Amino acid sequence: MCVIDMRSDAASMPTPEMIQAITTARLGDSISREDPTVRQIEELGAEMFGKEDAVFVISGTMANQVAVATLTRRGQEVIVGLESHIYNLEVAGMAAVSQVQARPISCPQGFMDPAELEAAINEPGVQVADTGLICLENTYNLNRGYIMSLENIRTISKIATAKGIPVYMDGARIFNAAVASGVDVKEIVSSVDAVQVCLTKGLGAPIGSLLIGDAAFTAEARKIQQRLGGGMRQAGIIAAPGIVALNKMVDRLSEDHENARYLACCLHELDNRLLSLEDVQTNIVSIDIGFTGIDSNTFLSLLNHRNIFIKRIGPSAFRLVCYHNINRPMIDKVIDALDDILSQEGA
Ligand SMILES: Cc1ncc(COP(=O)(O)O)c(C=O)c1O
Repeated sequence: MCVIDMRSDAASMPTPEMIQAITTARLGDSISREDPTVRQIEELGAEMFGKEDAVFVISGTMANQVAVATLTRRGQEVIVGLESHIYNLEVAGMAAVSQVQARPISCPQGFMDPAELEAAINEPGVQVADTGLICLENTYNLNRGYIMSLENIRTISKIATAKGIPVYMDGARIFNAAVASGVDVKEIVSSVDAVQVCLTKGLGAPIGSLLIGDAAFTAEARKIQQRLGGGMRQAGIIAAPGIVALNKMVDRLSEDHENARYLACCLHELDNRLLSLEDVQTNIVSIDIGFTGIDSNTFLSLLNHRNIFIKRIGPSAFRLVCYHNINRPMIDKVIDALDDILSQEGA
């Protein structure tokens, strides 16, 4: 019986074309910039994002931490979204690696209020930390997938530029934002200094992220990547499927968004207390079964018995993520299972 794993788009599997690309990749020493396949993915990434250069790194977390280390100085403060990955799920990396302090601010539905941002930027003073960096995330909140509006990004960048503060975007799922909003990634990042994109989420590659910015940024980022032990030798092996991901897997993200919307609408029809349709903007659907009285562990194990896996994100909240290995018949099975469980177990 097939397993339906909707816990994360990080569960996406490489396509046969990606596996084929691994076997034929031309290789060299990537630390010395001699791996032609790594150079190819870095040039492709820089070109797609309209920036000077890109660095191929092992993961989104590595990209984020290298970016913070590159753009800040010890003892500074970094403004982050309250629900961001960089703040919550990177083992306090900013503090441990770069010795900077996070200043979280709210970012409801992916909107950072300019007034709240300005208030969070410290005025120079002998007792306060200098604000060294603003970190955005797009799509925002890995349990939601909200799209940051171009207007909001540009307003934030304008405020930052006026104060001489760089802006970094964690674009783990930036192509989801681009495809769903019809705005090219070049435009999304035109006002930010640096961005990372994960090749492993909706794009389906097995390993890797690209950290993208101007040449001065990437030159320093390469040194920090090396310092952290992230320099790689024949990394063309893992860059090759990433090239397929960038060339072949971007446009099809719209299918995942359609599937997520379909799933959300069907669940909303089952019971409109499960979710708010406004919250579903890309490939992620979150539901809350709190009102049903069903125990969350029981709920998960009833799904698991049907070979359906979703992720618990709160006491009674769960996340279901669409990606290329999740097709419409699978989604129909999930809807049927949820219908069954909610009607049998619910109060
Ligand atoms: C928004 C965001 N940023 C960064 C990461 C980290 O990526 P990785 O798992 O490749 O370290 C994730 C992973 O889920 C993410 O959702």
